[in-house]
Amino acid sequence: MMASMRIAEFALERYFARWEFAVEHLLCASDVQGYGMADLLDLADDETRAMWEGLTLGYTESTGHPLLRAEIASLYEGLEPDDVLVFAGAEEAIFCLANVVLGDGAHAIVTWPAYQSLYEVGRAAGAEVTLHELREDDGWAIDVELLRRQVTPATRLIVINAPHNPTGMLPDRATFDAIVGIAEESDAYLLVDEVYRYLESDEHERLPAGAETTPKGISLGVMSKSFAMAGLRIGWLATTDREVLARCAAFKDYTTICSSAPSEVLALIGLRARDAVLARSRRIVEGNLSLVDGFFDEWGDRFTWVRPRGGSIGFPRLTVPGMSIDEWAAGLVEAEGVLLLPGSQFGYGGNHFRLGFGRTDLPIALDRLERYAARTLR
Ligand SMILES: Cc1ncc(COP(=O)(O)O)c(C=O)c1O
Repeated sequence: MMASMRIAEFALERYFARWEFAVEHLLCASDVQGYGMADLLDLADDETRAMWEGLTLGYTESTGHPLLRAEIASLYEGLEPDDVLVFAGAEEAIFCLANVVLGDGAHAIVTWPAYQSLYEVGRAAGAEVTLHELREDDGWAIDVELLRRQVTPATRLIVINAPHNPTGMLPDRATFDAIVGIAEESDAYLLVDEVYRYLESDEHERLPAGAETTPKGISLGVMSKSFAMAGLRIGWLATTDREVLARCAAFKDYTTICSSAPSEVLALIGLRARDAVLARSRRIVEGNLSLVDGFFDEWGDRFTWVRPRGGSIGFPRLTVPGMSIDEWAAGLVEAEGVLLLPGSQFGYGGNHFRLGFGRTDLPIALDRLERYAARTLR
């Protein structure tokens, strides 16, 4: 790390910067296959088509286009447009929120392994961050009693991510309610990273949104994952705590100020047509997941596989003695042009790797994985 860096490098993003556009098949991507621009415009209604065709490329409202905020608010029970703040992706929302609620002397608890910014930004802001470790032999479940013990008088923020990156874990309702209770008792903000929401394998298991549960509950959403539009770079925070949103809005003046004008209109089109957009994503993920299940059925003596209950990724483990996943994955990308994401990029040991099943080339990538496995693991 360079001496001038005030925040640790984001290992996963550096890994993708190296590989994402250099390999043939990303078998570790977390997003769903990007929606086609022409297909998206076909979904526009009269109002949004006129907005698109008459668009001028000036600055936009810093809190987000009013129609976009209204559409986002409609994703949540009981929320209003003023309970929503739009950002350039979920990443900017995390950056602003952590900087606003955490600082010297503050404490945060973050489930781990995790998307690194969920804990790293708080650390860089001077907070003490306790990682709440999830374990494969618990089915990656959140340990409510441990979480309760991790709370201190300085706890300002509890962060969970459900469905979870990288494991696909989804808490059951009782666990989720208990987490909400712990946040309320400790008077901490509860950030629920819901970027994979709507991709639950069983839709009956969908949890209430964080913003719907408690006044200091904050939902993090984005167009990137379940809505299959990562290139828009449109994300949001939703919460009835307007004071924290106002502080985030003031912080955002130092990051992007406002969102991209074309992206706001395209996001609005996508959200208004969300039934069609999400049905496509669910179809892709469901079909792919059954192929992935087939692979692990076949190779069950070489890998563990805790089947994800939501999202587009899972976190299996290579169990062949003496074989390191970092080396095996390096061989795979060289031989077959297929990229996996070793758990070391999450700082998480134990020979795990992230496998993504949101892309439409998964059947080919999986064939190549199988071919490589047959050569190296038999
Ligand atoms: C759990 C989680 N939160 C936030 C993000 C950031 O989303 P975006 O890149 O769209 O800003 C990601 C992206 O991978 C993620 O997996």
